[in-house]
Amino acid sequence: MKKFFIHTFGCQMNVYDSERVAVMLAEKGWEYTENAEEADLIIINSCSVREKPLLKLYSCAGRYLPLKKSKGLRIFIMGCVAQQLGGEIIEKIPYIDGVFGPGAEDMIPDVAEKGVFPFVSNKADSLEREEIFPARSKGSFFSPYSSYVTVMHGCNNFCSYCIVPFVRGREISRKSAVILDEIKKLVDSGIQEVTLLGQNVNSYKDPENGKTFAALLHEISEKTALKRIRFITSHPKDFGEELAQAFRDIPNLMPYLHLPAQSGNNRILKLMNRRYTVENYIEKMELARKYCPDIALSSDFIVGFPGETREEFEDTMKLVDLVGYDSIFAFNYSPRPFTKAEKMTDDVPEEEKFARLNELLDLEKRRLKEVRGRYLGRTVNVLVESESPKGDTFMGRSEHNLIVHIAGSIASDKGKIVPVKVVEILENTMRGEKVVSQPE
Ligand code: SAH
Ligand code: SF4
Ligand code: F3S
Repeated sequence: MKKFFIHTFGCQMNVYDSERVAVMLAEKGWEYTENAEEADLIIINSCSVREKPLLKLYSCAGRYLPLKKSKGLRIFIMGCVAQQLGGEIIEKIPYIDGVFGPGAEDMIPDVAEKGVFPFVSNKADSLEREEIFPARSKGSFFSPYSSYVTVMHGCNNFCSYCIVPFVRGREISRKSAVILDEIKKLVDSGIQEVTLLGQNVNSYKDPENGKTFAALLHEISEKTALKRIRFITSHPKDFGEELAQAFRDIPNLMPYLHLPAQSGNNRILKLMNRRYTVENYIEKMELARKYCPDIALSSDFIVGFPGETREEFEDTMKLVDLVGYDSIFAFNYSPRPFTKAEKMTDDVPEEEKFARLNELLDLEKRRLKEVRGRYLGRTVNVLVESESPKGDTFMGRSEHNLIVHIAGSIASDKGKIVPVKVVEILENTMRGEKVVSQPE
C-alpha cells in the first residue's frame, strides 16, 4: 500500500486541514505513516504568518531532498505559503511536485494518483468554498480524544500586520447542520473534546438560517454527547454579552478564553487596525469574568510594531500585569507581503524586539505563578490523552486548558476525564495526583 506523511506548520486550522487531507487520502487507499522515510508522498502544510515559518518551510523541504533523490517520492506543499507564492515555490525549490493553496487541497488525492507534475493551484477565488469533510469519520488520525472543527474560514478584518486575509480569503461560515453532523461522527469515534476554529468566531453566521456563534455553541451542547467544547479565536472588538453568558450557561463549554490584545497602547492598536482601545479590551475581560469568575484568559501580543516606542511597549507590559493571564503568546513583529504595515518603516531594531519579547515573557512568567496559584490544592478534571514525555505518568488538559501530569494514572485512564488534585505548579504544566474515590 502506498504511504503518505504530513508535516504541519502553523495554526490549528492547518492541523484541521492536514487531517482532512489525510482522511481523503486514506479513503483512496493510502496509508498514513509517522516516518517520512517510509513515505511515497510527503506533504508539508505551510504557514506564512511570520517570516520564520516561511524559512522553516525551505529548510524542511531541503531535509526531504535526499529521500526524493534516493526513492523518487513526491513532495507537495499545501497551506498558506502555497497560496501566497504559488508557482514561485517551484522556481525556488524545483524538486517540489505540487503546490496547493487552501482552496485546492481537496484535489490532492487525485493529483497524487494521476497528476501532471509540477502541479500548481492557488487561485484566490477557490478560497471561497464550503469545506467538506469526507463521509468517513476521522477521529483516529492525529488524536483519538480531542479534535478541531473549523466553523468558518477566511478573515475580513485586515489587521494591518496580518497576511491571513490574503492567503485565506474572505470570511465564510459553514452550515451549522454540517458542523453538527461532523461532531456527531467524531463523538461516535471516541472524541470527547472539540475545539471550534475560526479567525474571528464572533462573526460566525449560519449561511442557511443566520444562527450566531453563541447559538451554535448551545446547539452543539444540547444535540451532541460531546463532553467538552472549546473555541478559538474571538476578536475583542466583537466579543460581547451573548458569548460571555455562554460560559455561564453551557455546562460543557470549558472556562478558557483566548482574546488576543496584540498591544496595550491605543496609538499602536489604531495603527494595527484592531478597532478597539485598551479600555474597551479591559471591559471585555471584565465581562468574561463577570459571567465566569474562574475563567482562564490568554492573549497574543506583537512587540516591535513599526514606530513602537519604549513607552508604548511598556503599556503592553502594564496590560499583562493588570489582566493576570493564565498564558500568553508573544511574537516579534515580522513584516508580511500585501499588508499595510509592510509599507511602514520596520524601525525597531531586531535586538530591541528580542529584548522587549524577553521582558514581556519574563513578566508573564512571574505573573502566571500567582495566577495559576489558584489551582494549587484544587481538584481539576483532566482529559487524559497520552503518556508524559518521561513515560512515568499520563497527562492531559484541565478544564482551563493547562497540561497536567497525573501521578497514579494508568493506561486505561486514556480517553477518560479523571479528577486530579493539583500539587505543584510548574512553568508550563502542573503536577497532580489522581483522586480515587473511596468505596462507601
Ligand atoms: N485570528 C487570530 C490570530 C491569527 S494569527 C486573531 O485575530 O487573533 C496568530 C497570531 O500571530 C496573531 O494573533 C498575532 O499575534 C501574530 N501575528 C500575525 N501577524 C504577525 C506579524 N506580521 N508579525 C508578528 N506576529 C504576527
Ligand atoms: Fe489576522 Fe486580524 Fe484576521 Fe486575526 S483578525 S487573522 S490578526 S487579520
Ligand atoms: Fe499560519 Fe495560515 Fe494559520 S498563515 S497562522 S497557517 S491561517
